[in-house]
Amino acid sequence: MQKWIMSIVLGIAGFLFVILLLFNLPAKEEASQMDSPASIPETPVNASKAESIYKSNCMHCHGDEYQGAMGPALNQVGAKLGREKIYNQIVHGGGGMPGYEGRLTEEEIVNITNWLGSFK
Ligand code: HEC
Repeated sequence: MQKWIMSIVLGIAGFLFVILLLFNLPAKEEASQMDSPASIPETPVNASKAESIYKSNCMHCHGDEYQGAMGPALNQVGAKLGREKIYNQIVHGGGGMPGYEGRLTEEEIVNITNWLGSFK
């Protein structure tokens, strides 16, 4: 009798486990990909696009020669920070810098991230 109950309990546990695998894991994976380096595609840099975005959005704080002004110098930022840190700083801002989520397109942010990531 008890064995019979146990197998039902185990059956339900197994069923719940499968449900968790099906619905929970993919959702978690998506969430963790948001900030992972793998989510920043290494697209070929379009430097002229990146520069024109830099000039109109970033230069007044980071300097016309990336030497820094109100914000830190960016001329070696690729050596100091990984691409995911650069990306997050541009998307969310912080420390006196505005976030550019919604102001620049995802493609523009990825392009400028890869461009700055090559400043070493
Ligand atoms: C209003 C001024 C301002 C503007 C505009 C601005 N930044 Fe910044 N930025 C800052 C400040 C201040 C920091 C330092 C933040 C901190 O230390 O937490 C910073 C930090 C950064 C960093 C990290 C550098 C480091 O050494 O830690 C990157 C990368 C960066 N900005 C890129 C950009 C890009 C790209 C743009 C344009 C799309 C931009 N910033 C526009 C002020 C600005």
